[in-house]
Amino acid sequence: MQCSELPLALFALMCISTSETCTLRPHITAVEGEPFYLKYCSSLPGHASEKNTIRWSKSSGSHGHVELSPRSSPRIAFRGYVLEFWPVELNDTGSYIFQRGNDTHNWKLNVTQRDKHNCFTKKQVISRTVEVEQSLRVSCENSYYQNLVNRTSLYKDCEKIAENNKNPFIRKNAEFKDQGFYTCVFSVYHNGKLFHITKTFNITIAGDHNNINPVIFGQEVNHVEVELGKNVQLNCSAFLNEMDLVYWNILKENGTNPNVYEEEEMRIRTSEGKWHASKILRIENITEDNLNFSYNCTVVSEGSVDTMRFILLKKEDTGDIPGYIFTRGMIISASVLVAVVCLVTVCVIYRVDLVLFYRHLIGRDETLTDGKTYDAFVSYLKKCGPEDGEEHNFAVEILPRVLEKHFGYKLCIFERDVVPGGAVVDEIHSLIEKSRRLIIVLSENYMSNEVRYELESGLHEALVERKIKIILIEFTPISNFTFLPQSLELLKSHRILKWKSDQYLSYDSRFWKNLLYLMPAKKVKPDRDEGEALPVLSES
Ligand SMILES: *[C@@H]1O[C@H](CO)[C@@H](O)[C@H](O)[C@H]1NC(C)=O
Ligand SMILES: *[C@@H]1O[C@H](CO)[C@@H](O)[C@H](O)[C@H]1NC(C)=O
Ligand SMILES: *[C@@H]1O[C@H](CO)[C@@H](O)[C@H](O)[C@H]1NC(C)=O
Ligand SMILES: *[C@@H]1O[C@H](CO)[C@@H](O)[C@H](O)[C@H]1NC(C)=O
Repeated sequence: MQCSELPLALFALMCISTSETCTLRPHITAVEGEPFYLKYCSSLPGHASEKNTIRWSKSSGSHGHVELSPRSSPRIAFRGYVLEFWPVELNDTGSYIFQRGNDTHNWKLNVTQRDKHNCFTKKQVISRTVEVEQSLRVSCENSYYQNLVNRTSLYKDCEKIAENNKNPFIRKNAEFKDQGFYTCVFSVYHNGKLFHITKTFNITIAGDHNNINPVIFGQEVNHVEVELGKNVQLNCSAFLNEMDLVYWNILKENGTNPNVYEEEEMRIRTSEGKWHASKILRIENITEDNLNFSYNCTVVSEGSVDTMRFILLKKEDTGDIPGYIFTRGMIISASVLVAVVCLVTVCVIYRVDLVLFYRHLIGRDETLTDGKTYDAFVSYLKKCGPEDGEEHNFAVEILPRVLEKHFGYKLCIFERDVVPGGAVVDEIHSLIEKSRRLIIVLSENYMSNEVRYELESGLHEALVERKIKIILIEFTPISNFTFLPQSLELLKSHRILKWKSDQYLSYDSRFWKNLLYLMPAKKVKPDRDEGEALPVLSES
């Protein structure tokens, strides 16, 4: 284009834009049942030149080329450069030709069906995008029919929002809730008939152009514990601008693993006009190949990039225990522990009975092979007290009756079994050596007994050389142990039995059980001369 022609062209453009009621577009869509017109765009006024008559003709596939006249259809009207339809109908579809002298113009008209379920026809909308916070203007203007319009209503999504003036309009700062279809309905009277003309704007509210730096939610590096053979979904979720991209980098040097799938992106618009996008990476039937590889999700905008990495790790076995199993395990362990503690307690309390039962069960006899004669040597006070004293009675009567007659032990009671005469000390020594146990019947009187000194050496030998086990029977309660030979302090407390003569004692009383427990294990061959069930001692 030459420079001189530029102002002319600009002038022409201005003319066209101001005379917008003429029809420039070659392809036109109209809605059935509405008034419609075609106007030839001429720089000359419609009636300026009379010398060439104006002809309108129509050509359609079936009917060929037909010249239009007021007689051809009552719905058609001619008004200079304008062809009017009152109203336009579906069969008006076709090519229309304007002709005046050598000037011709051709339009293709497509009449679409009215949308009967809607207040507007979706095919006939004017789409506009308005940025949020910017000025939103919807104005119902119709310059061509302006003088004929009786009433104008404005609808938003088919709900009336303004009515009854010539030019209802909206003017405000755009918000996202303003998005929708705005329909102007012009009511026009023509020859006494009422017609409606609709004009619909499809208004989209766009986010502002101030781009944010997109971000991916979550940590930069994520270690995901997985089990081989299972599936995993990696969720990459980002906050971004409308035009930004989210994608996964899953390419390895030797190609992508065949079990890795990138799913469709999901997008939701936020109230600020930005977007939340999420894209899932699905890895099915995880193999060793998928482990320790960095699956990266990236979001890119014009100015920035954000990346997130996912690395799959094999789940440790220890981390394998689900919480409920762990709790269950804890409960079971605690129960087992309590049970064991109970059992041990019971065993300690009933140790004596258990040992006796055990001996009875397997018939153990530890007296067969040690070459000793007596099961026990009984030592008691014998000189300073009266012969019929309680200790005497206990040692010479009660002990033998129970241990010998009932339980089949063999006792050595010095006074009873040793032939008078002979060296006392030597005798005691050799008898103790021939005995498996040394039973000492202990009372306050014991200290005054001269035998004590002789016994002491035997005791020492027994305790230190562990040739003999000692059983101490506390016959009367002893408050002061200092009179005892020092060796006795080495004696374990369970080897001390307390005799309570004021108690009714039968063969299976605790005292005798404890004594049996301390005595050597022996197959019982009781001498059943006496009635077995008779109590040993009964309180008279
Ligand atoms: C619209 O038309 C009705 C009926 O013909 C008439 O009564 C009314 O005055 C008209 N209103 C306008 C604004 O032309
Ligand atoms: C309305 O406009 C939006 C944005 O331009 C477009 O995506 C949509 O298809 C339009 N709707 C109709 C019915 O034309
Ligand atoms: C992915 O994460 C986003 C944001 O946390 C969430 O909205 C979306 O529902 C998640 N997708 C799946 C499939 O879990
Ligand atoms: C993911 O990112 C890390 C660090 O930027 C890089 O070393 C690795 O090669 C990337 N992985 C892929 C598949 O691009």
